[in-house]
Amino acid sequence: MKIGIFGGTFNPIHKGHTYTAQKIIENNLADKILFMVTATPPHKVYVDTSAQHRFNMTKTALDGESLVACDFEIKKGGKSYSYETLKAMQEKYPDDEIFFIMGADMFMNMPNWYEADRLRKEFSYILVDRSDAFENPVFKEFAEKQIKDFNMKVEILKIKTPDISSTEIRERVKKGLDIKEMTDEKVEKYIAENKLYRQTVTDDIIIDTIKSKLSEKRLKHCENVAKVAVELARIYGADEKAAYLAGYAHDAAKEITLEEMNELTLHLDLDEHIRSSKALLHALAGACYLKKTFNISEEVYNACFYHTMGRCDMTVLEKVVFMADYIEPGRNFEGIEEIRELAYKDIDQAIVKAIDSTLTHLMKTNKKIYYKTVLTRNFYLKQ
Ligand SMILES: [Fe+2]
Ligand SMILES: [Fe+2]
Repeated sequence: MKIGIFGGTFNPIHKGHTYTAQKIIENNLADKILFMVTATPPHKVYVDTSAQHRFNMTKTALDGESLVACDFEIKKGGKSYSYETLKAMQEKYPDDEIFFIMGADMFMNMPNWYEADRLRKEFSYILVDRSDAFENPVFKEFAEKQIKDFNMKVEILKIKTPDISSTEIRERVKKGLDIKEMTDEKVEKYIAENKLYRQTVTDDIIIDTIKSKLSEKRLKHCENVAKVAVELARIYGADEKAAYLAGYAHDAAKEITLEEMNELTLHLDLDEHIRSSKALLHALAGACYLKKTFNISEEVYNACFYHTMGRCDMTVLEKVVFMADYIEPGRNFEGIEEIRELAYKDIDQAIVKAIDSTLTHLMKTNKKIYYKTVLTRNFYLKQ
């Protein structure tokens, strides 16, 4: 028998998921599909949706025969690597062939995964191509090379799936709108009965969650950044509440692994330099985590996203968080006093000085410089 493994958070499961699975069965690419519901890893807190709720909804939406909900990763708990899950499924079903179901974006990111080589060599794949990925020459060349180099068995299913997202479902529920067209009736009923996705996320909830995730030292830094960001916001006219939240949350992903940072930013088109640097990527990953988990505002998202490298023509809030991170009272290095003073008088010039100091440090320690940091500096440099 061919068993497909379909991994996801399924928060909640929707018709896009079930349609994909049914098409895989109809096209004889698998006889049975296990919907592998992920556990909730420490860096992803889904407000008011426990793993158990996500599993229950998945189970209720499936027939339980050819499409089955699986709680292996939930029972195991903690972080699950695809390689380990597939290995466990192979052991559980020794006479069957295990196929891992993935989209084109996941396929592109596979080289970064845990045990990537063995993963590609030891298992079979169903690549669900929803966006004509093979018409993109870059993807086509990459995929063909992967398949050849690792002797991969990949079945390709080209389909157009209904345009539905779990995020949209959660947002509609919060607004009291119906989700009939988007998910199974039983899932809709389950959401209503258990009052899921109704909680309004306040800044306090976000800050409390961050408090529970960061080390004491990092937390102290975040508190300091939040306070300085409010001071600067008052001077330069940014929203003080947003400055406090962005200051507190800017390093939300600072203590997760590089692999987790890459996972959170999978949907972004990023170059290799940034993908391999925790010092840069944590800012983007933190912003994506906050957006996905708490649906933070665009302005707070951008302030977190650009807090390490800045960008040309930053908003006042972005500048405030960028500088607060740099000058908070816990920072202590040569030249900091001058930059600190300048930050309260001329924030644009303080940005130039701060970047100059960072670049000097990077050069002295023989480290790479990210070109976007230079672009930010040049933009704010008064000629
Ligand atoms: Fe940071
Ligand atoms: Fe920071």
